Amino acid sequence: MKYLTSNEIRDLFIKFWESKGAKHLESFSLVPDDPSLLFTIAGMVPLKPYYLGIKEPEYPRVVTSQKCVRTNDIENVGRTARHHTFFEMLGNFSWGSYFKHEAITWAWEFLTQVIELDPSRLYATIYKDDEEAYNVWHNDVGLPDDKIFRFGQDENYWFMGETGPCGPCSEIYYDRGEKYSCGKSTCGVGCDCDRYMEIWNLVFTQFDRQKDGSLPLLPHKNIDTGMGLERLTSVIQNVDTDYETDLFTPLIKLTCDKAGITYGADAKNDMAARVIADHVRAVAFMLADGVLPSNDGPGYVLRRLLRRAVRFGKLLGFEKNFLCEYLPVLIKIMGGTYKELITQRPVIENIINVEEEKFNNTLRQGTELFESECAKIKAANSDLIPGEIIFTLYDTFGFPPELTREMAEEQNLKIDEAGFKTCMENQRERARSSSKQKKSALAGDVYNEIENEFGKTQFTGYEKSNDYGKILALLNSEGRVEKISGNCEFEIVLDKTPFYAERGGEVGDTGIMKINGLVVKITNTIPHGNIITHLAKLENSGEINLNDLAECEVDNERRKAIRRNHTATHLLHEALGEILGRHVRQAGSLVSDEFLRFDFTHHSPVTDDEIAQAEKMINAQILANTELKIKEYTREEANNLGAKALFEEKYGEIVRVVEVPGFSMELCGGLHVERTGDIGAFKILREESIGSGTRRILACTGLTVIELLQKLFSLRNSMTALLSTDEENLQDKARSLVNELKAIKSEIQATKLKQVLENASKFLEHEDINGVAVQTGIFPDVKPDTLREIGDKARANAEASVVILASLNSEKACQLVIMANEKAVAKGIDAGKLVKEACVILGGKGGGRKNTAQGGGRDGDKLDLALKHIRKIINSVNE
Ligand code: ALA
Repeated sequence: MKYLTSNEIRDLFIKFWESKGAKHLESFSLVPDDPSLLFTIAGMVPLKPYYLGIKEPEYPRVVTSQKCVRTNDIENVGRTARHHTFFEMLGNFSWGSYFKHEAITWAWEFLTQVIELDPSRLYATIYKDDEEAYNVWHNDVGLPDDKIFRFGQDENYWFMGETGPCGPCSEIYYDRGEKYSCGKSTCGVGCDCDRYMEIWNLVFTQFDRQKDGSLPLLPHKNIDTGMGLERLTSVIQNVDTDYETDLFTPLIKLTCDKAGITYGADAKNDMAARVIADHVRAVAFMLADGVLPSNDGPGYVLRRLLRRAVRFGKLLGFEKNFLCEYLPVLIKIMGGTYKELITQRPVIENIINVEEEKFNNTLRQGTELFESECAKIKAANSDLIPGEIIFTLYDTFGFPPELTREMAEEQNLKIDEAGFKTCMENQRERARSSSKQKKSALAGDVYNEIENEFGKTQFTGYEKSNDYGKILALLNSEGRVEKISGNCEFEIVLDKTPFYAERGGEVGDTGIMKINGLVVKITNTIPHGNIITHLAKLENSGEINLNDLAECEVDNERRKAIRRNHTATHLLHEALGEILGRHVRQAGSLVSDEFLRFDFTHHSPVTDDEIAQAEKMINAQILANTELKIKEYTREEANNLGAKALFEEKYGEIVRVVEVPGFSMELCGGLHVERTGDIGAFKILREESIGSGTRRILACTGLTVIELLQKLFSLRNSMTALLSTDEENLQDKARSLVNELKAIKSEIQATKLKQVLENASKFLEHEDINGVAVQTGIFPDVKPDTLREIGDKARANAEASVVILASLNSEKACQLVIMANEKAVAKGIDAGKLVKEACVILGGKGGGRKNTAQGGGRDGDKLDLALKHIRKIINSVNE
């Protein structure tokens, strides 16, 4: 066997399949265009429409090295030799072109002739009754009978998910040799131990599993194969684990150098090094593909992995942010193949740093809480961590529950899962009652069914705002129906429509449809896969049937406003890149008829000056009145032209490019103005942070800018009238009024204080504790100096006297002054001690002499408790 680097292996695989007539496609995004999956889990996922026959493949044979993420076993990543979250899947695919014979014989050819694995170490498994596959292995490849194993559905049938393409498969195993065997007499292919390793899965994808479990045939006989690059590399580089291949060793080495440890010397440290290596890869690739940290979906997985890596770094003693140090190393290993690691590096670094910083701030406190709780639990001879602790760690300290679970395991403790679930449900209930989100009653698969039946809805809205379409499907809250009768809300699917369906941030069109002489209101237009549904409202009686003709009229005034905001969004994107730097990347957008919202990656607030610059630049483009150029290109051509692509978007081979010549060029499927002058005017309304290195700008265009100006002018007019001044003097007048008000307020305060000072004792509560005359008073927002003044006046000389004075401000922070006269001190009272202990209860600090002391704390609502404590001490003093 010859030594090959991982990059050479990837290249050889691609070249081999190209020599078999396959088209090489670049890896698709980690975020699939498929609501049933969080991430791309296999090479075939982005190609699913070709299996289902929804899309005709441009090339019937394809080869890819696909970025994948699997998240079903995160806790095991780092513990074992081969678990990963991120990995690369080498795959070859065929749709109705080659089938079992070629898939098997060519796989054999690649393994034995191209990368020169020893054929005597290879074994095959097949699905139990797959005689066709058996014959190819036995007769065509020449594998002896005792090297072909038959297994059932659990082992040799591959499903993409609960539904979707599937089929029997044949797996190829590599025998790593006796020394890896578990030694059991039953050890052989299929054994869980390290000896026989599955390296390649060849799936003969012929069926489309439905929700009810039925397996209708797909239009073609297809091939889908998957071979983990990490695993294959470990075989070829002849190392024990994937982590010792050249894909990982530089990352592991960095950890060892930083922590001053040797890989292989200590199991705990090794695990930490593997966790960091794996998670850094996953985090960097997810960010490069546009995933942003969040509390659900792919963004949550990203956050969870990043936080798990940070915690393992802390176990190795890494104090500050450290994850970004791995990026240059990762780029050196994989940047040649995955350019996005390089082009997106500023964004990746920026977000990792912000997210890491955020977690660092709470990790120490959370870990302390966790450890002290564990100690208590163990001291009480229990092994169960209450659900509230897991919830607090999650809710207050940002510990993903899975992380706490793993930490509990390390301490041999269990988690009260039911208690945690209750806490989470209570929180969800709170959130639910405050949100007004409406759920669609329709299940997602109805739309799948319609798409399978009729295919894609044709969109004619780029050219027209009026068109005719035939009704293919009608839906109400029950599901698909044959007809709709009056006064109700429902959904319509047509064969073709001019209504734009909400996509790429642009809202859906509204308008009307005339059907059978009835006027139906269209309140929104929504895409489901490749079909478009219109949310419709029939306010009269009458009937609408399948196959009826609908005359569509889009609300064109509203659409014009949407067009203005959409083109302005492109201008803003470009302007921000120019002004703030090229790290600016769109992280989301909303384009409606009323305003535009643009989210983008940037680490600090956009200054007023930068906002003014952007507004100027964009309005200059509007005044230039440039004609837009909208054209279709191949993805490669668009790339070469330098068109901006959005990372969260999925693009086909043919892309639509929207260009404001001389200024901006972006891949976009949305609606735009004809000339920039149509936008009229542009104004930024607000800029704010939305967390994790992401900012948000709200802006408006066209008549909305005029309306805004009108509103501001009328505000100005009423202000000048109210303050009896003119525009020029408005600011000065307002400022002097504010100052006047302040002066009056402090005068009133001073008068009030004077009254208090003159009759200090009257304002205080008197009591006798243990022979000491104790006077207590609580005042709103008074300075300690004043408290002391009050104390001086109130302190009596004749008898032992203590004065306790507190002041609470509007944020509930508390100031405390305690004064004792000589006799009280002689009795054993120590004002310093009283203040010191009371301030601990108040969540702050304080102290002083025996006769005068002061302090304070932020927990003013604990003042009662603190006063009780003071009284208790006075009461316990013995002369
Ligand atoms: N799709 C198949 C797998 O993931 C090849 O194993």
